[in-house]
Amino acid sequence: MRIGVLTSGGDCPGLNAVIRSIVHRAVVDHGDEVIGFQDGWKGLLECDYRKLDLDAVSGILALGGTILGSTRVQPTRLREGVERAKGHVAELGLDAIIPIGGEGTLKAARLLSDSGLPIVGVPKTIDNDIASTDVTFGFDTAVGVATEALDRLKTTAESHQRVLIVEVMGRHTGWIALHSGMAAGAHAIVVPERPFHVDELTKVVGARFEAGKKFAIVVVAEGARPQDGTMAFEAGGTDVYGHERFAGVARQLAVELERRLEKEARPVILGHVQRGGTPTAYDRVLATRFGWYAVEAVHRGDFGQMTALRGTDITLVPLAEAVEHLKTVPAERYAEAECVL
Ligand code: F6P
Repeated sequence: MRIGVLTSGGDCPGLNAVIRSIVHRAVVDHGDEVIGFQDGWKGLLECDYRKLDLDAVSGILALGGTILGSTRVQPTRLREGVERAKGHVAELGLDAIIPIGGEGTLKAARLLSDSGLPIVGVPKTIDNDIASTDVTFGFDTAVGVATEALDRLKTTAESHQRVLIVEVMGRHTGWIALHSGMAAGAHAIVVPERPFHVDELTKVVGARFEAGKKFAIVVVAEGARPQDGTMAFEAGGTDVYGHERFAGVARQLAVELERRLEKEARPVILGHVQRGGTPTAYDRVLATRFGWYAVEAVHRGDFGQMTALRGTDITLVPLAEAVEHLKTVPAERYAEAECVL
C-alpha cells in the first residue's frame, strides 16, 4: 500500500511519535510505502511531499513539533481544492491518507472523506476538546508544563505579595486550566464553560488576603469571559481562519482585580510554551498507539474514521461523530476542583 501522512493545525507534543509509529508499522510490518505531505493540507493541495522511510523517522520519538511542518488552511480554500486534492491522491497512487490534527483538521478530513477519499484521522491537541476520545495526546504535556509554571509562580508571587493571573491555552474549553489549576493548588480557576462574575472572584481572592495569606494564584483559560454586563471586557474578534482571537482575559482581569483589591495584580501568559518541547511518556505512548491503529484501520479499509481512546482501549469512531461538537468540561468537574468559579 501507499499511505500519505500530514499534520495540520496548531502543533502539539507527540506528533512526531505518531509519524514514527505509522512509518514503523506500515513499512516494517506491512511492507508499505509512506509519504509525508509538507505543512498539512497545503502540502496535499500543492503536491509537496517527501518519502518517509525508517531513516526519516529515526530519533524523533521524543522530539516536539512536527518534522512535516503544519499550517492552518482556510476552510473555503480547502473546499475549493477538493478536486485538486483528489487528483493528487490519484496521481501519487495513494491508497489512504492519515491526517493528524485537531478540530479544524478533522472537519477537513470529514469533508475529504465525504468526497470519496480514503481517510483515517488521528486526533491531536493540547486543548483536549475533541469529542469521542477520552484524551488527546499533547494534553498531558501541556498540563505538565502549565503545572510546573504555576508551582514556580507561587514562590515569586508569595515573595512579592502579588496576585498572579495566569492565562493558559485551551480555546473554548477549560481542560488545561482545570487540570493544571487542580494539580498546582490554584486559589481560583476560571473556565470558558462558565462565564465568571468578577465580584465573586474579588471575594475569593480578597478572603485569602483577609485570612492572612500573602499571595494568590488565579488560573484563567484564554477563552474565559465575564458574565454579560459585569465587567468592561474587550473581545478580540476573529482571525482569517474564522477562529476567535482571544483578547487577553488575564491582562484585563489583572487591571480589574488590582483596582478592586488594591493589591498588585499581574498577568502571566503562558502561551506557546505549553505546546513546545518534548512530549511526556503518556503522550508518547498514546501517540504511538494511535499511529499503530491508524495503519491497521487503513489495512482493514475502515475509512472515514478516527482513532480514539476509550478507557484503556484504542478504537475507531466515525469522523462525523467526532467533529459534531466540542468536548467541554462538564459541570460535575467544577465541584471536584473546589475553586472553579
Ligand atoms: O488548539 C491549540 C492551540 O494552542 C489553542 O490552545 C490556542 O488557542 C491556539 O492553538 C493558538 O493557535 P496559534 O498557534 O495559531 O496562535
